Amino acid sequence: MNIEKYTKILLNEDVVAIPTETVYGLAGSISSEKALHKIFKTKERPYFDPLIVHVSSIEQAKEYVTDWTEITEILAQNFWPGPLTFVLPKNDKVSDTITSGLNTVAIRMPNHIKTLKLIESLGTPVAAPSANPFKKTSPTTTAHVSEYFPDISVMDGGECQIGIESTIIGIDDKKITIYRPGMVTKSQIQTTLMKYNIEIEVCQQESPVAPGHLKHHYMPETPIIAYETNDIKLALTQINSNTEMKKYMSHPYIWNLPDDPTRVAREFYGLLKNIDQREFSSILILYSKNYTEDDKWNGILNRLEKAASFSF
Ligand code: TXA
Ligand code: MG
Repeated sequence: MNIEKYTKILLNEDVVAIPTETVYGLAGSISSEKALHKIFKTKERPYFDPLIVHVSSIEQAKEYVTDWTEITEILAQNFWPGPLTFVLPKNDKVSDTITSGLNTVAIRMPNHIKTLKLIESLGTPVAAPSANPFKKTSPTTTAHVSEYFPDISVMDGGECQIGIESTIIGIDDKKITIYRPGMVTKSQIQTTLMKYNIEIEVCQQESPVAPGHLKHHYMPETPIIAYETNDIKLALTQINSNTEMKKYMSHPYIWNLPDDPTRVAREFYGLLKNIDQREFSSILILYSKNYTEDDKWNGILNRLEKAASFSF
């Protein structure tokens, strides 16, 4: 499986793009400051935006945090390996370069056999943000990564099955805070923790320590117009009657989101990237009000909001 080749690159303090079930990551060993700096440099990522540490087992995660509660254990048992990241108090084995000097670390066990084998073979976790330049859409195929970073080695793990980034949560004794919604949903977490008296709060606030929260974080070049309706005619009439918006309507790509959130998440970034490279004047995305009743849509609508230049 070529794991050895990529292990060597990481041991050599260089970076490798790795497949995960969510999106491709740009990985470096957490014990190499050189590799960590290369991640920031390659992505042109500001140092105030901390990285997620990826582990190959629950046991390994425990080595880097000062507090692993019963709640954390239950969530890990239920959702790992998988698209759920915990923000936990870190110990001094985690460098400030990874956490931007915060006293917490974001940590997850990704659900991809090749990446788990790579981390196991390295014997050390890897820090990996999504493998895209700062402010570009996240890559879900090796082709996307190579297009962004032609000189970076990519471990081929096929197309990402989830398609949007992991759900990020903070855990303390009485409260879970969802910092970034994803395909692990609030109601799934609630059900899992049913017998505990724990509040689950969705963090709406734009935070400088979690720039995943900044509006327009994922904006493609072609402007996106997001419209909450499934009536195409109505949307076109209203948009065309708006002078500012009308100029983007000469040759729009219209994407009426299908009903299945799993499918939309999987196709989301790939489709935006693909349309962005064609000569459309805008991407008009129509979505239905009913969608928001399903938790699985929260992550998608959050990314859509960040990608859209205009929304109704
Ligand atoms: O699915 C994913 O999470 C992907 C794959 C590669 O695992 N990774 C990913 O990483 O989306 P990135 O760097 O694009 O987004 C990580 C987010 C950032 O918004 C960062 O600010 C936040 O995690 N983060 C990292 N450490 C944090 C901490 N200690 N407290 C709060 N937020 C943190
Ligand atoms: Mg990212």
